[in-house]
Amino acid sequence: MLKHAFIKGCGSYLPEKIVTNSDLTKIIDTTDEWIVNRTGIRQRHIAAENQNTSDLAIKAGENALAHAELLPTDIDILILATTTPDKTFPATATTVQSKLGMKKGAAFDIQAVCSGFVFGMSIANSFIKSGQANTVMVVGAETFSRILDWKDRGTCVLFGDGAGAVILQSTRINNSKIINSSILSTHLHSDGSTNDLLFVDGGPSSSQTVGHVRMAGKEVFRHAVTNLTSVVKETLEANNMTIEDIDWLVPHQANKRILDSTAKKLNLSKDKIIITLDRHANTSAASIPLALDEAVRDGRINRGDIVLMEAMGGGLTWGSILIRW
Ligand code: ACO
Repeated sequence: MLKHAFIKGCGSYLPEKIVTNSDLTKIIDTTDEWIVNRTGIRQRHIAAENQNTSDLAIKAGENALAHAELLPTDIDILILATTTPDKTFPATATTVQSKLGMKKGAAFDIQAVCSGFVFGMSIANSFIKSGQANTVMVVGAETFSRILDWKDRGTCVLFGDGAGAVILQSTRINNSKIINSSILSTHLHSDGSTNDLLFVDGGPSSSQTVGHVRMAGKEVFRHAVTNLTSVVKETLEANNMTIEDIDWLVPHQANKRILDSTAKKLNLSKDKIIITLDRHANTSAASIPLALDEAVRDGRINRGDIVLMEAMGGGLTWGSILIRW
């Protein structure tokens, strides 16, 4: 009997406060037209002063549990992907574990910036396939607004806050049976030689400060299109599929022009791409589960669909997951 992981449920949460591009024109020298033309972003949600990353993660986790019809006590492992933890330590995942009411197992954070959700899903998949866990919650949650330099118009217009969660469970199948819903493959990469292209200029060890996001925008753009195209090709090859086999692409939501350029290189129809970027901006590790939850709840993604997720972020890190929903 082989064990596979399938997605039992998903959920998300966005803070109430919306900041539009026109709101930003009051604090920096920019225009709605520049931001929309260069990025596709129209607005972003920003966490309230008293809301931490764990608060967003808990709400997304509760929504995912309700959707999966499971209890917090059913979860064996909780993986939280975030670049904006509540504190340097303990792991924000342990706060989420306690406040959700998860009584057993283990909770830990992982850090792969915008690729964090993809890395977290890959780890969860391995836990389930190896038999170490039956039910795993993966959360991507960020209060990215807290690490932005609100005087740097080149970066502060790009990001937003939010959280998304999925619950994976194991499914036992005989070798001979067709696998229905399951994760088909995951593919992870990083290249530390490029970590000066996108980073935060602070940290407990190097400067004892929190720091702000710094980015070489054009270089990051170029690497994003190259790396995302390459990891999608790698995923298709590993599964003996072509781009026509993909029903839905749920990409990390960084920039509409990155999505368009990647889709063009792959010959992927734009109708198959789930886009929330215009309303959420780039929510880093939360962007894929936020987009996924929207498309599952509005009925676009259905059981049996082939769903591809891909992301690239600081590190640089990048990766993909292919799922039969
Ligand atoms: N409003 C108005 N003007 C601006 C703004 C702004 N918000 N930001 C920059 N400009 C100006 C610049 O100062 C510059 O002016 P100049 O010509 O007088 O010097 C001009 O616009 C062009 O600036 P560039 O940085 O060259 O603009 P570019 O076309 O590269 O667009 C952008 C910038 C949108 C950041 C682009 O490089 C990009 O999308 N890069 C990808 C970055 C990304 O998505 N990062 C997210 C994290 S990584 C990930 O998630 C994949």
